[in-house]
Amino acid sequence: MKPEENELRISAIREGTVIDHIPADSVFKVAHILSLAKHKEILSLATNLPSNVMGTKGVIKIAKKRLTKTEVNKIAVIAPHATINIIEDYKVKDKRKVAIPKEIAMVIRCSNPQCVTNSQPVNTIFEVTRKEPLKVRCRYCERSMDASEIELK
Ligand code: CTP
Ligand code: ZN
Repeated sequence: MKPEENELRISAIREGTVIDHIPADSVFKVAHILSLAKHKEILSLATNLPSNVMGTKGVIKIAKKRLTKTEVNKIAVIAPHATINIIEDYKVKDKRKVAIPKEIAMVIRCSNPQCVTNSQPVNTIFEVTRKEPLKVRCRYCERSMDASEIELK
């Protein structure tokens, strides 16, 4: 008997998006930023799964959903090694790694309370000054923030 015959598998989806290789402790954060509590189609979340590459990992399967660019950028900030799989008719139609862009628009909140982005209706924009671990600098007030200070909007 193959080992996987003993394992509970998460159902495949027909159409939608599978976010794979999420750090095990970030699955609920990803679910939160995508507002998945409100998703009305099939949704599966799994975490602490064994992974050859990561030790443990999480996976989120979202039927009938495509991610926007902004959503993908948010995922990149909290799960820099995630893979986004687009599923059509049960097949993986597209598979790509998320990537930290050179600039991150809209998704991060500036930690400087005096920053204009916290009082005026302007979008935030941060320059990425280091990718791993992530470090960014606000275009408006020049405040630098490292991974532990970064808050998503
Ligand atoms: N998947 C799914 N429903 C489908 C097809 C695939 O939920 N109809 C899921 C798989 O369970 C897996 C992910 O989508 O979590 C990617 O599928 P696949 O590329 O077949 O898996 P792997 O080769 O293991 O992916 P990788 O090489 O990226 O680790
Ligand atoms: Zn700022």
